[in-house]
Amino acid sequence: MSIAIRQLTPVFAGEVSGVDVTQKLTRDDVAEIEAGMDRYAVLVFHDQQLTDPQQQTFSRNFGELEHTAGGNITKAQDRRLDPYMADVSNLDKDHKPLARNDRKRMFNLGNRLWHSDSSFRAVPAKYSLLSGRIVVDQGGNTEFADMRAAYDGLDDATKAEIEDLICEHSLIYSRGTLGFTEFTAEERTMMRPVRQRLVRTHPVTGRKSLYLSSHIGTIVGWPVPEARAFIRDLTEHATQSQFTYSHKWRQWDLVMWDNRQLLHRVTRFDDTQVRDMRRTTIAGDGLTVAQVA
Ligand SMILES: [Fe+2]
Repeated sequence: MSIAIRQLTPVFAGEVSGVDVTQKLTRDDVAEIEAGMDRYAVLVFHDQQLTDPQQQTFSRNFGELEHTAGGNITKAQDRRLDPYMADVSNLDKDHKPLARNDRKRMFNLGNRLWHSDSSFRAVPAKYSLLSGRIVVDQGGNTEFADMRAAYDGLDDATKAEIEDLICEHSLIYSRGTLGFTEFTAEERTMMRPVRQRLVRTHPVTGRKSLYLSSHIGTIVGWPVPEARAFIRDLTEHATQSQFTYSHKWRQWDLVMWDNRQLLHRVTRFDDTQVRDMRRTTIAGDGLTVAQVA
């Protein structure tokens, strides 16, 4: 394939041409896309009309697929998709938009907050690949913020202060921010907090980045309100417009991003319209910090 990438903002994000993700990629093609990910951190592929199995096959070029268990409150019998496909739609298993006060919908509204996928897992995600099967006309953008540029933009004293800080992440914290606090005992066990470094170093480029997420509930060793106020300050800094790219979806866009280097969120849209988005997630290859038993 003859792959070309056009940079979309002065800082990051690339639009890819010359790739048909439904075709088998050569080793060189995969290496070229990975190099693009290392550089741009988010890549947009237009006009990729694919099936779920094709999305999974393309995704496996970049690592093992993450299983969706533990990342949502949908019961197995209510799932619309294969357990290796994260259902980022607003639909029930009969393909109907969820009611306004449906518990799953309210849980999913957490995606409106800046986050990094699976930062609530001890081994957090590497890449996410999101396919726009049915998109909405207004709103529903996916916005990205470059945590490398955000880190670079900190002053030296802040960089020194945060270098070795450890945060606790849980879905309970991000949902709690929106007032969604009613979890069963089983869900609370599933969502028990994990630890993540606040500063990560990219394994290939060596660039440092801020590892923020709405899933953060505290910083280990800090009083909770002080930790949350500081994380809020850092997030405000890190999501200033010069660090962001807002993706307006076209049907059959496939957008791939590196959760180790970016934050993202969805913007508001009319939830009575069908929005069918399907995500495959590439598992990370290790802990960012030792967990506490
Ligand atoms: Fe997400």
